[in-house]
Amino acid sequence: MQAKIFAHRGASKHAPENTMDAFTLAYQEGADGIETDVHLTKDRVPVLMHDERVNRTTNGTGYIKDYTFSQLKKLDAGAWFSPDFAGARILRLDELLEWIDDKSLYLNIELKNNKIDYRHLETIVYDRLSNYRLLHRTILSTFNPISIKKLKTLNQTIGTALLSSKRDKNLVSSAGQLGANAVHIKYQRLQQKLVNSCHHRDMAVRVYTVNKPKQMLHCFRTGCDGIFTDVPKIAIQCRAQI
Ligand code: G3P
Ligand code: CA
Repeated sequence: MQAKIFAHRGASKHAPENTMDAFTLAYQEGADGIETDVHLTKDRVPVLMHDERVNRTTNGTGYIKDYTFSQLKKLDAGAWFSPDFAGARILRLDELLEWIDDKSLYLNIELKNNKIDYRHLETIVYDRLSNYRLLHRTILSTFNPISIKKLKTLNQTIGTALLSSKRDKNLVSSAGQLGANAVHIKYQRLQQKLVNSCHHRDMAVRVYTVNKPKQMLHCFRTGCDGIFTDVPKIAIQCRAQI
């Protein structure tokens, strides 16, 4: 099966990451799926942002966990990227789920719980996906191994992925022991033998964050199952060459 192209935080090279503008652009460009990151607000609303703090991608300062959602939604999440996107808002997870519902897109939600221990994040996200009947086309990924275990306790069949950025010769066996369905690795860690070893265990391999055509072609030639890219349009063109 050909590798899937996931728009990393949406089409985030040309629109502000994790906003509706970035997701819409990814859809228009023909991405197979959307990758996004989720945190919890003070009033326990799951919201889409990469960093723990709002400083880099909004006009505010401080931690997401210290804001209520109604405070967060007043921040501008687009002007930092370009004045053309001024007024873009931070999204609740539900807004993305509602938007994706009638589109044939896969979804990769990264639980951002490796630095902050958001209590019950797994259950909160799982319940939302279940309500929207989107579990069958969603992958839940995390750098936190304990979180994979919690997800599997909630539902054995949900698609999970263990994220890894470091060199780790035990990665595949660790992911297997946790019951993860995939490993998501940094491009620099991609090796043919890792792809083979995952596939031998019936586990998928996806690679992040792949923005250069040469790297994309390399990924596709290894037979990996997917890539995460800020430029889905370019990835689609590269995949067509394989
Ligand atoms: O899910 C792949 C990738 O998004 C993980 O790294 O830092 O971009 O969330 P990061
Ligand atoms: Ca991510």
